[in-house]
Amino acid sequence: MEKNGSSNNDYVIIKAIEDGVSVIGLTRGSDTKFHHSEKLDKGEVMIAQFTEHTSAIKIRGNAKILSCYGEIESEFKK
Ligand code: TRP
Repeated sequence: MEKNGSSNNDYVIIKAIEDGVSVIGLTRGSDTKFHHSEKLDKGEVMIAQFTEHTSAIKIRGNAKILSCYGEIESEFKK
């Protein structure tokens, strides 16, 4: 069992539906900071987990997101 009850084997699948989608990992713990940013171009897929280091994932841009909770699309509005 990891710290903070973070043990979880589920994956989150992110598919970019435009160029330049950012997948940003935010730190677990008392301060919530960006620790990693991954750029995806259209059609690229990232498969990620929540970990001991990552408690939240922010997605900027238009993407399809699949998780155990279902499917959602992020959208970017100017
Ligand atoms: N080193 C990070 C970690 O183990 C890698 C990572 C996992 C990540 N899930 C992520 C980075 C989600 C960005 C978004 O926590």
